[in-house]
Amino acid sequence: MNSSALRRVAVIGAPGRMGRMACALLEAQTDLAVVARVGRGEDLGDALVRSEAELGLDLTVAGAGAAHGERMLELGVRPVIGTSGVSLDENRALDELARERGLGGLVVPNFSLGVWLLQRACEEAARFFPDAEIVEMHGKHKKDKPSGTALDTAERMAAARDAEVEGSVPIHSVRLPGLYSNQEVMFGGLGEVLRLRHETYSMQCFEAGILAALRYASRALGVGRGIGAAFEDLGVR
Ligand SMILES: NC(=O)c1ccc[n+]([C@@H]2O[C@H](COP(=O)([O-])OP(=O)(O)OC[C@H]3O[C@@H](n4cnc5c(N)ncnc54)[C@H](OP(=O)(O)O)[C@@H]3O)[C@@H](O)[C@H]2O)c1
Repeated sequence: MNSSALRRVAVIGAPGRMGRMACALLEAQTDLAVVARVGRGEDLGDALVRSEAELGLDLTVAGAGAAHGERMLELGVRPVIGTSGVSLDENRALDELARERGLGGLVVPNFSLGVWLLQRACEEAARFFPDAEIVEMHGKHKKDKPSGTALDTAERMAAARDAEVEGSVPIHSVRLPGLYSNQEVMFGGLGEVLRLRHETYSMQCFEAGILAALRYASRALGVGRGIGAAFEDLGVR
């Protein structure tokens, strides 16, 4: 793929909150073009083939991301999966399939710069504090529980400790009207508690990450996990 070429992007879940935001964002770019807006009930394969998409941005419903990623790779399309709930095993399977086909992509449980930095701090703290719990707080509309971001944070903390993921970091989920999207990670030690907290105020916090992920995926080999590689590789802003 020519590095200065216009990238043709299919947005899957385009009618949703994230999908609408992503389409408007991509329309303002000179190197990325929305060539398909895919909603529920539409045939993903047909839409990808008809539109000749090179990249697919999945923002649908928790649990659908891995299958959509597999379908994209089978059709030669590079997936960026922002949808919650792609497990580590599913991510590894997508990575293998992509490498077999000489393609790349990215699974991104959270596109925000602040969450990425929070997770890096949590990985460091988890090595020193054996006891930690996550409290994730979202509005009532959020369909999945716990959030994909909380699961990803727990997985990263377990990996930093070289521990099993299962049960390593308890997650508490709060769903209330008025909340948008916040995550606090509490580390308890002798006579002290360290709190690391991220607060989201609008979907704007996902914009830089969505663009970085698509640009990174357009030339990556394999399907990695997390926005870090894209931010490190391309610069954040
Ligand atoms: N990675 C991140 O940083 C990040 C940030 C925020 C949210 N998310 C995740 O992104 C996803 C979307 O969030 P959202 O708030 O935009 O949700 P949403 O408003 O419910 O939008 C999801 C859209 O996808 C559609 N859809 C469902 N299944 C589909 C399928 N199989 N094929 C095509 N379209 C399908 C839905 O249609 P219907 O309305 O008919 O169901 C809806 O239009 C969720 O998994 C959420 O957790 C990720």
